[in-house]
Amino acid sequence: MEYGVRNNEINDQFDKLFSSILKEQKNFMEVRGPQEGKEHLVEETLKAYNQERGKGIYFNYVSSGRGHGPFTELIDGSVKYDLIGGIGPNLLGHSHPIYIKSHLEAALGDSVMCGNLQPYPQAIELTNNLLSAVKESNLKHFWFTGSGSFANDLALKLVWQKKDPAYRVIAFKKAFAGRSVATQDITHNANYRQGMPKSLDVDHVPHFDQNNPEDSLKNTLAALEEVTAKHPNQHCAIMLEIIQGEGGFIFGPKEYYEEIFKWAKKKGLYIWIDEVQTFGRTRELFAFQTMGLDKYVDIVSVGKALQVCGVLYSEELNPKPGLIAGTFNGSVSALSTGSKLIKYLTEGNFYGDNGRIKELEDKFITKLTHLMKNSCKDKMTYVGGIGTMIAFEVGDSTTETVSKFVKALFNNGIVAFMAGKEPTRVRLLLPLAMTDEHIDDIISIIEKTILEEIN
Ligand SMILES: Cc1ncc(COP(=O)(O)O)c(C=O)c1O
Repeated sequence: MEYGVRNNEINDQFDKLFSSILKEQKNFMEVRGPQEGKEHLVEETLKAYNQERGKGIYFNYVSSGRGHGPFTELIDGSVKYDLIGGIGPNLLGHSHPIYIKSHLEAALGDSVMCGNLQPYPQAIELTNNLLSAVKESNLKHFWFTGSGSFANDLALKLVWQKKDPAYRVIAFKKAFAGRSVATQDITHNANYRQGMPKSLDVDHVPHFDQNNPEDSLKNTLAALEEVTAKHPNQHCAIMLEIIQGEGGFIFGPKEYYEEIFKWAKKKGLYIWIDEVQTFGRTRELFAFQTMGLDKYVDIVSVGKALQVCGVLYSEELNPKPGLIAGTFNGSVSALSTGSKLIKYLTEGNFYGDNGRIKELEDKFITKLTHLMKNSCKDKMTYVGGIGTMIAFEVGDSTTETVSKFVKALFNNGIVAFMAGKEPTRVRLLLPLAMTDEHIDDIISIIEKTILEEIN
């Protein structure tokens, strides 16, 4: 669909601007320290900002808006590998041509934000592209929301309306579903809802146990039987992340989910998948596709890498008028990026057993495992993950040790984060734009940091 104003002069300038921006951004392509005279700029800027926020920021990080591929520049002129991508959104890597094009395209239009009342073509295209990518499933509709948490809130409303008055939800231990009034009860960590009244009844059952794979399914099914026997006919849905993100990238094999889903279908429960963190990042566009579970899913929340958030759902779950609405779909540039990104990922060579994502996964896991067995023996205790979601453990895997390590890694040139708790893992949400040289460089920075920091 044609969008915004165009003429020969604009077309010409569009192309020139695109090339000039991309060329300039490509100057930020190697790790370096702060520029002379700017060493304290980030700290000083954050001092005031932290005061205004009332809370400190985890890293000494303020972006300069410059960076390319896996690299991000800070306002002090230092450049680091960004292996966390804003906790997920930056899947393509910095200043990807799709981002630049989408921003420029949005500038040709007459507005900034697009909403439900007066749609723009980018929202229509994104919806269409997303639904085309889930043709093997029963998902037939998509509705935008303002955040991943709010996508889960909306999903909850849809299953509640169909199952009224069975309002209880089954979720999993170590789950993270967001911090909204409803999702804070699904999120397993009670520290995240101190002083909050309960807004819904959630029964948490054990997820796959990496330390006891043989008994995992049996234990989960036993817990499911127990909660449904205790509260008969009171549950509306079973809600889960197929790869638990904040939980530490924990996941089981296809058969584990399949048996749980068959059990849920027999009980008449909706199967609600949270793909806010996994969207785009595993060996297919969705983690449920990676596991071959298309035919089971009824409702799926997405966010982060898509650049906008929302919920995909079946015909049956289409709600009565009045239940869902809202001002925003997202900014025109975010919608345009999300729409292009789906096509780029599904039409390019990213997914499947021979796709780039599986290749990245194999390279990272092989190289990190090599460190664990050789130079970092006894200092690394676990390497795992799937797709662009890679995790490893260092030292005694306590939050204190891992947090210290993550900060040292930051100082040595890699932005990473943590996931899980005791064991706490180093979490990498990899960008796709990486060469073999980048990977080797990253692995040697990780090795150096482990040898420096872990006794
Ligand atoms: C699995 C999962 N669900 C929901 C959310 C909440 O998304 P948002 O932070 O956009 O509200 C997150 C965020 O980290 C997440 O990882």
